[in-house]
Amino acid sequence: MLTEIESIAMHGHTRPGECILKASELVMDFGTKRVLDGIDMQLNRGEILAVVGGSGSGKSTLMRQLALLQAPTAGKIQLFGMDVTNMGELRTLPLRRQMGVMFQHGALFGDLTVLENVSLPLREHTDLTLGTIEEISMLKIVLAGLEPDAAALYPSQLSGGMRKRAAVARGIALDPEILFLDEPSSGLDPISANAMDELVLHLKKTLGLTILLVTHDMDSLWRVADRILLLAEAKVAAEGSLRELVASDNAHARGFFQGPRGRAAGASHDQ
Ligand SMILES: Nc1ncnc2c1ncn2[C@@H]1O[C@H](COP(=O)(O)OP(=O)(O)OP(=O)(O)O)[C@@H](O)[C@H]1O
Ligand SMILES: [Mg+2]
Repeated sequence: MLTEIESIAMHGHTRPGECILKASELVMDFGTKRVLDGIDMQLNRGEILAVVGGSGSGKSTLMRQLALLQAPTAGKIQLFGMDVTNMGELRTLPLRRQMGVMFQHGALFGDLTVLENVSLPLREHTDLTLGTIEEISMLKIVLAGLEPDAAALYPSQLSGGMRKRAAVARGIALDPEILFLDEPSSGLDPISANAMDELVLHLKKTLGLTILLVTHDMDSLWRVADRILLLAEAKVAAEGSLRELVASDNAHARGFFQGPRGRAAGASHDQ
């Protein structure tokens, strides 16, 4: 007999476009510093939501909280319509399996091959045989755009772009509903960054993923984001489509999207 959590984790309880992840009045303090101060946001099934903001504005912190990897100081998180705030690590385990994460700094284990890195979540969360785990992992490695030969390499033997792809492969190892990507194209040359955008769009389309993407990259925003959330001063400063935010007279949006980089990226995407 499945528990309610397992049943929701396996089947979801929502339809396309419906809210699957919602934060209400989320607060995060580090010591005396309030990094998130009353964040209200939602993630809808099938969309790519981009979270943007200056360095230190709390993007990665928000992502960790939404992925249930760090408990908020206050506020509420609902996943698939269920209140998961303070639910405890053990009870949220089946739900966390529905969320794949690619961390900002890749965070692959340097002493494990790509195949071993990608296999890790499957080894930890499933009872599948090693042979099956290897097969699934190889599938994800290829799906993430790596050659099968890359599976045997160690992170230090990979280019920056390949390392990011390996981290994506690990993020999708467990067939999550939601994929969190923290700066997937940072540090990549423009061509590799474009290719990463293509991969994000491809994964959304082929796997029906819902994606929360943290990025600084204006070109990525134009290419992949359905909706954008701008963080500033620990709050949601603006929210909407990129076109709306670029045209907005909100001071934070103007500062972020109408600076020289924002204008250059916008101009090249205007038809
Ligand atoms: N574990 C922690 N302990 C103490 N302070 C932290 C911790 N994690 C984050 N912070 C602080 O919270 C603030 C927000 O950090 P966060 O990493 O979320 O920002 P960010 O928007 O992702 O920045 P960047 O664009 O540089 O990645 C920063 O001032 C950071 O120093
Ligand atoms: Mg960050």
